[in-house]
Amino acid sequence: MSETTTERVPSFPMERRCPYAPPAEYDELRAENPVTKVELPTGRQAWALTRHEDVRAMLADPRFSSDRMSPQFPTLVDNTQLRSTFRPSLISMDPPEHGPARRAVVGEFTVRRMEALRPRIQEIVDQAIDDLLAAGEPADLVTHVSLPVPSLVICEQLGVPYADHDFFQQHSSKLLNRETAQEDRRDAVDQLTSYLGKLITEKEAAPTDDLLGRQIVKQREEGKVDHEALVSLAFLLLVAGHETTANMISLGTVALLEHPDQLALLLNDPGVTLNAVEELLRYFTIAELATTRVATEDVEIGGVLIRAGEGVLGLSNAANHDPAAYDRPDELDIARGARNHVAFGFGAHQCLGQNLARMELQIVFDTLFRRVPGLRIEKPIDELDYKRNSTVYGLHSLPVAWS
Ligand code: HEM
Repeated sequence: MSETTTERVPSFPMERRCPYAPPAEYDELRAENPVTKVELPTGRQAWALTRHEDVRAMLADPRFSSDRMSPQFPTLVDNTQLRSTFRPSLISMDPPEHGPARRAVVGEFTVRRMEALRPRIQEIVDQAIDDLLAAGEPADLVTHVSLPVPSLVICEQLGVPYADHDFFQQHSSKLLNRETAQEDRRDAVDQLTSYLGKLITEKEAAPTDDLLGRQIVKQREEGKVDHEALVSLAFLLLVAGHETTANMISLGTVALLEHPDQLALLLNDPGVTLNAVEELLRYFTIAELATTRVATEDVEIGGVLIRAGEGVLGLSNAANHDPAAYDRPDELDIARGARNHVAFGFGAHQCLGQNLARMELQIVFDTLFRRVPGLRIEKPIDELDYKRNSTVYGLHSLPVAWS
């Protein structure tokens, strides 16, 4: 057992080694101190877990809470102003609320449902690539492909007008940016909540055949009408549903272009694309701050006692680069079949949209490199505009050319 409250502890977050690898400190921590305290930008301390087995054990343990509005939750930014207004959505719920709330919507994200969407997602990807080519060189892949594809898909799925994409993309990127001032973050939450509130009121008057409309009908059938719960679900799905996948499209494109041997494997055999997607998800682990919890009881993880009320960061990027789980973890190897990675989390809160994200990524990578064989990045990769201060890692822009 270790107690380190008065010792000097490492500061968190640590910088990624540009642009792919996790922070160098993760390897040191994992080797020497795999369950250790770090200091957050708020001045508070939390435990950082760097081993794959410890991160999975923590995420599977119901004694760790996901309640992001709890004052003890180890957020990287001060969110006191949000606590009074923000109604917890699925991602912040604990038992007994979480299970029924998740079951109410999980049927919308099954593999079969996603397969039914495949032809439409292919059309959306083809249109986005047409727009990229029509824009002329150099063009920004983020503007023309990475953002519009998942945004349009989630809009159609939810029944949110895509014409409003500038509005919700701007507000959700403000929310994910750790440098956004607390008042601006609150303003972004208020604006998105009020926008979605109006939209759902319209749907309540005349339910549409989309995810939100179907939830309204279902709530009525079950006699559990809850407007606010639906607004917070719509909020979570809209924000989680576009920015994450967009970042993986951009980063995955960079990684494949930078590893022509790996790209050749993918081009020679479309059967390997899904393996490539898993490996890219593992390799970048863009949402490692999502797998954060607070202990509700004293729990031992990796031989260390975590006390009730202490925050825990399950560093999924460190877990996904743990040599005990993956050989040569810092190498991109699309043939490895990166099973059991925790890029989508693990346990009860494992990403609800993972089947959708996988399908979008598969279709984009299968289509982009075949339709635009000369695709190249117009800048040295270490000069690209990475999202270093965002809760979700990615790229602000990606200038490309192709002739
Ligand atoms: C949860 C990552 C795409 C909706 C999560 C979690 C992670 C994650 C790490 C776990 C959070 C936790 O443990 O507390 C990602 C990544 C994505 C992606 C890397 C893309 C590459 C999506 C999409 C959607 C979505 C496309 C929606 C359509 C959700 C929801 C949850 C979640 C609703 C909360 C589930 C729950 O608490 O039961 N995601 N996500 N995600 N994700 Fe994703």
